[in-house]
Amino acid sequence: MSVQDQIRDLPLRHDGGRLGPRLDLDALIGDERLLAYRFPNGVTGFLTTNAADFKAILSDPRFHAKRFLGEPQMAIMPVDVPDMPGFIPSMNGPEHLRVRRLAAGDFTVKRVEALQPMIDGVVTKYLDQLAAHGSPADLYEMYCLQIPSEVIALILGVPHTHAEDFQNAARLTIGGLPDAMADPEAPAKAVARLHEIVKEVIGIKRETPGDDVITRLSQADNPPLSDTEIAGLCTNLLLAGHETTATTGALAVATLLTQRDQYRTFMDHPERLPDFVDELVRFAFIIQDAGAGIPRLAVEDVNFHGVHIRAGDWVMPTTIAANIDPSVCPYAAPEQIDLNRDPIQHLTFGFGAHTCLGQHLARAELRSILSMLFARFPTLELVTPVDEMPWLESGFGYRMAELNVAW
Ligand code: HEM
Repeated sequence: MSVQDQIRDLPLRHDGGRLGPRLDLDALIGDERLLAYRFPNGVTGFLTTNAADFKAILSDPRFHAKRFLGEPQMAIMPVDVPDMPGFIPSMNGPEHLRVRRLAAGDFTVKRVEALQPMIDGVVTKYLDQLAAHGSPADLYEMYCLQIPSEVIALILGVPHTHAEDFQNAARLTIGGLPDAMADPEAPAKAVARLHEIVKEVIGIKRETPGDDVITRLSQADNPPLSDTEIAGLCTNLLLAGHETTATTGALAVATLLTQRDQYRTFMDHPERLPDFVDELVRFAFIIQDAGAGIPRLAVEDVNFHGVHIRAGDWVMPTTIAANIDPSVCPYAAPEQIDLNRDPIQHLTFGFGAHTCLGQHLARAELRSILSMLFARFPTLELVTPVDEMPWLESGFGYRMAELNVAW
């Protein structure tokens, strides 16, 4: 079978409500291991249907990561990022490893643990702003969206002089915001601006080094990174960790405020916070992952368990299928959230050479975003039921357009 044969439209639906799988799981889970689908943007490709194939494709060098580079993508990207040296989600093989390794040391479990007070400080700042603003407020815009970009700016070493500019540009890279939509070019311009800001900061750090990622990257030798590569890598760190974390945080808040039994478990067992965050991250991608999984491009013909994949075909290791696979989640109703389960080794952060570089940071941010929010506003509630909120359907990160809460 080639991808052109037996192509079906991606079966999207909302039968289970907005906080449930967007992909029709009955159509996804069956005997076939690879299913040929047409995505909402017209691109065709194969979906995987289990955890083993998800891992196999993501660790097979015959499938290349090619993100954002103007090539046909299965998911509609909010930002058409131009070809950028140093942008590791689109690099492969030894070149990818060379650049990734230079940043990896700043995102280990140990390094992130040391960042926790800084993260908590940023979260407290936005909680104070919410309190000053008063109830009701749009928690997505005022809280979930602000924290990840400010945290990454501090990790990168963006100085005060450039902080506001960086935060504004970061905000505009996200498709779907009202002001971004008024100017369809706004996200691409914002990515270009971020790139420029990082280049300006590299100049500053060469004069006055600090204890930060941009300083370390600019001091790398063996071999050194060019300024353009550093700017590409830092833009990547922001883009990869900004909307993903903001959207996951917002979906987690909405889930807990909607499913009050889960909320009570969350509040009653603070010692299990890390496990709760992982189950919420697993569940958030069960909601989101429909056409926004982890695309790979076959660079040679591959016979995958009898399916003929041709060079140039897209294959999408599908997170939702992996995260509900019995080998990953051996419980009844794996497509639903349940904080009472033992920890689950979900695959939301990917697998193989490109596994999320910022996953420990994402977990640390989400722990603080959720636990500190509910501690500060114990009477928090949604203003509008999730199924009546406006939702952004077409973007990379499927989410509500706004998350109005009261307290
Ligand atoms: C809940 C939040 C997040 C989710 C769900 C997420 C998910 C992912 C996934 C699935 C990949 C693999 C992509 C692929 O294989 O093509 C990835 C890669 C990446 N993520 Fe995350 N991520 C999150 C937060 C972050 C944060 C906070 C950072 C900040 C440093 C970050 C930085 C990266 C980078 C740099 C890559 C590219 C790695 C590479 O290509 O080698 N992510 N992320």
